[in-house]
Amino acid sequence: MFLQLTEKERTIFELACPHLQVMSNELHTKEAVHFCLQLLQAVDGDRHIVIPAAILHDTGWAKIPEKVSKKIRVPDGEPEAIKVHEEISALIAELILRDVNYKSAYIDEIVSIIIGHDSRKKALSLNDKIVKDADKLSRFSKDFSKIWPKWGDGSVAENLYAELANGVENWFFLSESKKIARIELDHRIKEHHAQNAPIA
Ligand SMILES: [Fe+2]
Ligand SMILES: [Fe+2]
Repeated sequence: MFLQLTEKERTIFELACPHLQVMSNELHTKEAVHFCLQLLQAVDGDRHIVIPAAILHDTGWAKIPEKVSKKIRVPDGEPEAIKVHEEISALIAELILRDVNYKSAYIDEIVSIIIGHDSRKKALSLNDKIVKDADKLSRFSKDFSKIWPKWGDGSVAENLYAELANGVENWFFLSESKKIARIELDHRIKEHHAQNAPIA
């Protein structure tokens, strides 16, 4: 997936990459950044905050032993335990952003977004809404739908689409995100039917 990133954002992504090599997180992060870029074209968020927050939001997973992460990760993770990956991600984010001499005021906002990206049900700002929504939108993307069943309860495709249809109505802060989710889901269902169509 090609992402139109600035040089600084690319550097941050490169530094984040070693921390994204578990649970298909590199793919998930690319999808989340892709949807942030799409949302930034429609709503007035701050790219300096949104893009680094999306790049770094799940960097903490790689530090958590697999046995533990299986128990705590979304969609069925224990709500309290999910905070562990947010706190580690926030710490890694701060270190990476300081390493690239990112503006301190930006770092504070990015860290506050990351530290509640899954557990905090209310959004702090428009920037936060964009990151939270893009994180969820990644579940609707073409490549991500293939790995989703391995993540959660092993549900088959039909259940996945039902889950996503429920998500369209309930997961998003921004109406623009809902719109994107609806379009993506429609594509996924059509692709699924095309793959499973009987040969004439
Ligand atoms: Fe997360
Ligand atoms: Fe995520």
